[in-house]
Amino acid sequence: MAEPRPRVWVSQPLYGDIEGRLDEWFEVRRTPEVTDHAPEAIAAGLADADGALVTLNDRIGAAEVAGAPRLRAIANVGVGYNNLDVEALAARGIVATNTPDVLTETTADFGFALMMAAARRITEAERWLRGGHWQGWGFHQLLGADIHGSTLGILGMGRIGQGVARRARGFGMRVLYHNRSRLPEAVERDCAATRVERDVLFAEADHLVLVLPYSAANHHIVDAAALAKMKPGATLTNIARGGLVDEDALADALQAGRLAAAGLDVFEGEPAVNPRLLGCRNVVLTPHIASASLSTRRAMVSLAVDNLVAALGFGPDAGRPPSVVTPPAGSAAPRGQ
Ligand code: DGY
Repeated sequence: MAEPRPRVWVSQPLYGDIEGRLDEWFEVRRTPEVTDHAPEAIAAGLADADGALVTLNDRIGAAEVAGAPRLRAIANVGVGYNNLDVEALAARGIVATNTPDVLTETTADFGFALMMAAARRITEAERWLRGGHWQGWGFHQLLGADIHGSTLGILGMGRIGQGVARRARGFGMRVLYHNRSRLPEAVERDCAATRVERDVLFAEADHLVLVLPYSAANHHIVDAAALAKMKPGATLTNIARGGLVDEDALADALQAGRLAAAGLDVFEGEPAVNPRLLGCRNVVLTPHIASASLSTRRAMVSLAVDNLVAALGFGPDAGRPPSVVTPPAGSAAPRGQ
């Protein structure tokens, strides 16, 4: 009798022509519609699975895997993986993977666009025009802040941060960054970027962009004290995770006009958005779409499938999934985005 095939749970509908590759090796159970799974539903999905393909909405920790004795691998479709408790998964011997690289350029494009939209008041201007307020060209209308020739500050200089820095070269920006450690000189040269201490970054940036992975250690790294260090009239853009920013403190700074504007693609309680931010005219709000181009989303699914197949011991990379994030026992350092 043939060996039973390993079982895989796919938590959300993805691209069938790509994710369908799983059928070659596994018995696949698919969620037919986009679903906001409650923790119990995730536990049920994982209960008899050897592996799972999940997205950022699926929060998985010790409780969700407790009743899943066969589970060996979780492939996250996303570079950020703060939806996974990787320590708890590693303790259970479950490998977790993510999807770096394939979304770097698309996400950097978006980060740059969001920064520009905030600085040049693009969505605010459109709302104003559509609201019928434009009575004629005005010399003083909707003045924004320049991008060209200004100082860009990048907090978190992983792959996406470097992508944002490379785009800044074309705008003649001076680029400062802060990371725990300095990048190799060749990378700094390529990005024309200089490492500074975090407080210097806050103080010198005309436009500060957040691209660092979220962890409990950097929760609200941009709080009232950090915002107070920023230049009057600076902008803040966040394409990483909402939990990095104290949103009430940001709303205070925006309402007081201390910060000129913000561009936010991520929110602490998403999909709920802090009502105070919704009430600020000078913030561009987008629904976590920085990596949302069709080709990039397809590439993310493809990499997640490769990861899962390999983690479960099949395919050309059997046993060597391309992008593992589960820490080896005793080390929990999140990797750069
Ligand atoms: C990620 O991959 O972490 C993004 O936030 C969503 O694509």
